[in-house]
Amino acid sequence: MSVPRPAAVIVLAAGEGTRMKSQTPKVLHELCGRALVDHMLAAARDLGPEELIVVIGHALERVGGHLAETSPDARAVVQREQRGTGHAVRTVLEEVGTIAGTVLVTYGDVPLLRAQTLAALLERHAADGNAVTVLTAEVPDPTGYGRIIRDESGAVLKIVEEKDATAEQRAIREMNSGIYAFDGLLLADAVKRVSTDNAQGEEYLTDVLSILRGDGHRVGAWTAADYTEVEGVNDRVQLAFARKVLNQRLLESHMRAGVTIIDPASTFIDVGVRIEPDAVIHPGTQLHGGTVIEAGAEIGPGTTLTDTRVGAGATVRNAVCDSAEIGPEASVGPYAYLRPGTVLGHKSKAGTFVEMKNAKVGDRSKVPHLTYAGDATIGEDVNIGASTIFVNYDGVNKNHTTVRDGAFVGCDTMLIAPVTIGDGANTAAGSVIVDDVPPGAIGVARARQRNIEKWVLRRRAGTKSAAAAERALAERAQQESNQ
Ligand code: UD1
Ligand code: CA
Repeated sequence: MSVPRPAAVIVLAAGEGTRMKSQTPKVLHELCGRALVDHMLAAARDLGPEELIVVIGHALERVGGHLAETSPDARAVVQREQRGTGHAVRTVLEEVGTIAGTVLVTYGDVPLLRAQTLAALLERHAADGNAVTVLTAEVPDPTGYGRIIRDESGAVLKIVEEKDATAEQRAIREMNSGIYAFDGLLLADAVKRVSTDNAQGEEYLTDVLSILRGDGHRVGAWTAADYTEVEGVNDRVQLAFARKVLNQRLLESHMRAGVTIIDPASTFIDVGVRIEPDAVIHPGTQLHGGTVIEAGAEIGPGTTLTDTRVGAGATVRNAVCDSAEIGPEASVGPYAYLRPGTVLGHKSKAGTFVEMKNAKVGDRSKVPHLTYAGDATIGEDVNIGASTIFVNYDGVNKNHTTVRDGAFVGCDTMLIAPVTIGDGANTAAGSVIVDDVPPGAIGVARARQRNIEKWVLRRRAGTKSAAAAERALAERAQQESNQ
């Protein structure tokens, strides 16, 4: 089957979407990493239309700005006043001119609609030589939708809006999705003849069907197999439902492509995420943006990755990573926070309670416990002791620390940037390092220890500590006198 390429896809997105009760325009609400309208545009693009047109009106600046940025291939047509779906299409044709060929009209708030369903509509439209073919669906509850009115032979007569329908018509469960394939020339003529003589005083695009039928043209319908595809998002309950359905679809496609997902119910993956076969995704994991997981990596449990790349065979547990690059066979977490600019080398480690930002960690280097590494370059085969802090901020400027290959930074070292620890150099535990440590040297920067004997007996007399000390000292004295 070859799908006829539409001359244009017109996406209606000028409405306000009041039921979202939001400062954000409805079509810009996010779903699996994409705005609602962008889901529709992606499906439309798959049909290869000659022109992609979006009708915008409400929140013009924001929606227009979004489209200019994310869909430069789409032409935005402004409908200043929303006087109905028919008026929206008329506005497009007045601005763009009559479009010869097939014109597909759809909405910006039906993110679950698949390109293949639109393709099936286009095929039916072409095969039957229709003037218009409407996409319909049998729904359990058709409240609020236009109803498809057919004659005894099943031919589509017209569409009646809920508000204009008789009780008998309201009982019909076949709804109008509001998505149609039109003959462009016939549409251009008919849309001018739509009246506002209805309950809402609007120009209904649905009236084009009865007008074309009245002119003796063929009017057809194609019923979607899965009605959930054509149900629009009007409020946040429907948004959550759409998210669940879309997420499940994405998870299934990853699983079919060889990815193990332990608990689909608690896993969320955006449309732009790429995962290679034999990766394992543990429960409670969210993969956002352009995250890439290479083959055999293990992600989760309890992990949120945004625009992060995870190399083959790496493990990332209970971690939050934003714009990080995790090398092959590296280990992250449990309980790590990798912020933008973190780059971990092959077989390296960012362990428990470790935070990194703008930090490059060389191959096989380990940062295992309780460390903040900000603005750092760490070479290969380096060990960073527990509780080390890369002190990058002096209250005014951010400064850089370099730790060269093979260095061993002792526990609880403060590396006061800018500072360099040379190749193979060490720092003594508990040091506050303000000067560079040359290759092979140890930097010791802490007070020498002195013990004040019997201080506790004098200054903490009567405490449990003093009692314990007295016992131990008495025992020691006993042993000494026995010798
Ligand atoms: C419309 C259909 C109805 C169908 C339903 C499916 C008409 C008259 N009715 O009803 O049969 O069952 O969709 O969801 O067409 N829009 C504009 N400009 C306007 C008006 C609307 O761009 O002037 C856009 C909206 O942003 C929205 C879409 O068109 O994306 C549908 O508009 P809406 O007002 O929701 O139509 P319904 O009354 O739901
Ligand atoms: Ca609607």
